[in-house]
Amino acid sequence: MDKIVIEGGERLVGDVEISGAKNAALPLLAASILAEGTTVFENVPTLEDIRTTRKLLSNLGATVEADEKKHSVSVDASKLISHEAPYELVKTMRASSLVLGPLLARLGKARVSLPGGCAIGARPINLHLMALEKMGAEIKIEHGYVEAKAKKLRGAKIYFDIVTVTGTENIMMAASLAEGTTVLENAACEPEVVDTANLLNRMGAKIRGAGTDVITIEGVSSLKPVSYRVMPDRIETGTFMIASALTRGNIKIKDCIEEHSMALIIKLREAGVEIKVEGDGIRVIGHRRIKSVDVKTLPYPGFATDMQAQMMVLMTLGDGLSVISETVFENRFMHVSELQRMGADIRVDGHSALVKGVPYLSGAPVMATDLRASASLILAGLAAEGTTEVSRVYHLDRGYERIEEKLSRLGAKIKRVGT
Ligand code: UD1
Repeated sequence: MDKIVIEGGERLVGDVEISGAKNAALPLLAASILAEGTTVFENVPTLEDIRTTRKLLSNLGATVEADEKKHSVSVDASKLISHEAPYELVKTMRASSLVLGPLLARLGKARVSLPGGCAIGARPINLHLMALEKMGAEIKIEHGYVEAKAKKLRGAKIYFDIVTVTGTENIMMAASLAEGTTVLENAACEPEVVDTANLLNRMGAKIRGAGTDVITIEGVSSLKPVSYRVMPDRIETGTFMIASALTRGNIKIKDCIEEHSMALIIKLREAGVEIKVEGDGIRVIGHRRIKSVDVKTLPYPGFATDMQAQMMVLMTLGDGLSVISETVFENRFMHVSELQRMGADIRVDGHSALVKGVPYLSGAPVMATDLRASASLILAGLAAEGTTEVSRVYHLDRGYERIEEKLSRLGAKIKRVGT
């Protein structure tokens, strides 16, 4: 299994291009099965989760072609032969449940393995199922699978108790081909939801309000295939911002959208990081020791839970005490014990972590536990004195395209080694 080995202490300087967003590409690819014909995507990141989704769509009977170098994927969903997302695929990628809504809308039936828990929490899909039932679907859980059927989905008024990103996307996709109007209250406002709504509208759907907490979807009888460019990845953007801040670097982050990283930008400025918006990107300059700031994760436009682990690394080197509260997932502090091995002073108390800044971190062998935790360990390694070896990097490969190559071009001493 591959490891990433980092010699810390290098200042990162230069330009970096951001890839397409994983969390947008996944619902966009799922939406392609709503159209009878070939949908073409550009700016698709080259990631394990995208390969898993391609496999999932091929299993359903779609003809999927990809050019990883050109970052393009085409999906011809004219003929679907299966309505099943099997356990083998869902267990490696929970977002496979994004095909539930589209399959039900297109074929009137879906059989999707239940995702189960993961390192960061229980991650149920009960809200997706509740909403589909309101839309007239009959749902049973059998042998670990959700079995759903509906001759024709009907528009409904739906309220989500908890803001759910993939839940909002699943229901938007299902409602696009339902009979009548669906109103989704307390919907997720994430930019990836807006990207999905933009694709669906381009395909002929009638969705209003995406990006606010009330989304209205007027069902249409069919959707047509189109070409679509995936939005930039705001989590990769944020990860490079923190890399610059941590190494007292000067990085220009290109092909990103400033507005999508606003909560992070405000917090980083509060911590003393200089951030300038330039014509084609955002420049991030780390000048001095970081000021400790408090952070609380929330649904968008709040501080992204997917940036919590990376922000914690920055705070381990702060000049005081920082309280980091995780309100989205119940168990998202798996990186703490690994950071402690590198000398960080962190105490977890329920949903909060108290991070007392230390003057330096020291390199150590560490183990990635989930996708964003693995990014945080890479960041810690860049800032630490000596050598850090991050193992279980398959987590990293699910969501970051060639991160070691991008960091190495900025001056980091980082390499991947096979074991
Ligand atoms: C998406 C992102 C993930 C991000 C998360 C929160 C994708 C592919 N993944 O995950 O990177 O960390 O949003 O921003 O876009 N919940 C329920 N019942 C449900 C659905 C969710 O209780 O039916 C709970 C979850 O357990 C969690 C919270 O709601 O505590 C938010 O989860 P959700 O927004 O659904 O996360 P995902 O869409 O899985």
